Amino acid sequence: MFQSQPDEILNSGHPFGFHELGHLRQGEVLHPLQEAFIQKGAIQCGMCTPGMILSAKALVDENPHPTEIDVRKAIAGNLCRCTGYVKIVDAILAVSREER
Ligand code: FES
Repeated sequence: MFQSQPDEILNSGHPFGFHELGHLRQGEVLHPLQEAFIQKGAIQCGMCTPGMILSAKALVDENPHPTEIDVRKAIAGNLCRCTGYVKIVDAILAVSREER
């Protein structure tokens, strides 16, 4: 298991890290999905994170209040070897429950 911290992944220029998702940032403020992934511990190695975040953003843009089943269907094309998906689903649901 990797021991990288989310901030290290975010700032490392890692080819699969959040750098690819820089366009989601609003200045120095992370997109709520990025922040929720960090807060919920939904990032471990970061390999799946860009795909998960983009799938989640597409989902909540189209359906602001998805069910857990909606979330699981939306991220189904992304494989995560680290998290077991529970924290990822929790992060997406947390954002979808907030007013954005
Ligand atoms: S966090 Fe490592 S593959 Fe998902």
